[in-house]
Amino acid sequence: MAIEVAPLTPVFAGRMTGIDARRTQTAEEVAAVDAGMARYAVLVLPGQDITDEQQLEFTRNFGPLQDGANSTERRHELRLDPAFADVSNIGKDGRMLARDDRRRMASLGNRLWHSDASFRIVPARYSLLSGRVVVTEGGNTEFADMRAAYDALDRTTRNDIEDMICEHSQIFSREQLGFTEYLPEERARMKPVRHRLVRTHPISGRKSIFLSAHIGGIVGWPMPEARAFIRDLMEHATQPRFVYAHRWTRHDLVIWDNQATMHRVRRYDDLTMVRDLRRTTTKCDGPTAAQDAA
Ligand code: OGA
Ligand code: MN
Repeated sequence: MAIEVAPLTPVFAGRMTGIDARRTQTAEEVAAVDAGMARYAVLVLPGQDITDEQQLEFTRNFGPLQDGANSTERRHELRLDPAFADVSNIGKDGRMLARDDRRRMASLGNRLWHSDASFRIVPARYSLLSGRVVVTEGGNTEFADMRAAYDALDRTTRNDIEDMICEHSQIFSREQLGFTEYLPEERARMKPVRHRLVRTHPISGRKSIFLSAHIGGIVGWPMPEARAFIRDLMEHATQPRFVYAHRWTRHDLVIWDNQATMHRVRRYDDLTMVRDLRRTTTKCDGPTAAQDAA
């Protein structure tokens, strides 16, 4: 079957058909997905009824896996293999998470615009999110094109940010929602990491703004000034003209490039409706910036 991509917005995101993620991919198929990703930054592959094993195998075509389990989850409490980010509202016992469940608190962070694992020294490249059980009211995933957002900046701002380095930590994103309870060892593990704010895509060569809710500072700037500046950029970068809102159909496999996009989930009634999405993630080749010597 021929591999085809139909654009979903005038700017980015495409619907790709002709790939069967359950099968072993040929080199040509992997190259077609990579080329589609470099161009569209978000690809929706409908009708992919895959198992966890098939999702892992498909993901490995695109590079080394990023550990999905987040740093506040205890391994023995995981519902899925630790290579997965469990983006569901169900616990290991198969029941919906209680309102005050700690994992639910952490996953509310996905409501803020972010780039996956930007709090890691080697951040995420692709995220592959599989819709196993989807909801019909709310729960859209929205994506914003950080290349288009970069292109639309005025020249002064582009010059100002060219060499800017930001500090990212999950502590910063969760603190925006008032979540501040950590064990001392968690706090140590969540130490801020540094990333360039302007990145050049290794395949497309396009520049983008590496924004994320995990940003809490800019190296060399007073914190309030940094946060006000990042807010302005966030507002610019998430204008409707740069956004694609994905409404889920069961068995959609949505792949996005964290180097070139941000995303967020919209509210849904997570106390009464099951939503079971499972994410696998690949890593970038290396850090985007040198880390603090300390
Ligand atoms: C993710 C994420 C959004 C969603 O999987 O990384 O942010 O729609 N998910 O659940
Ligand atoms: Mn995410």
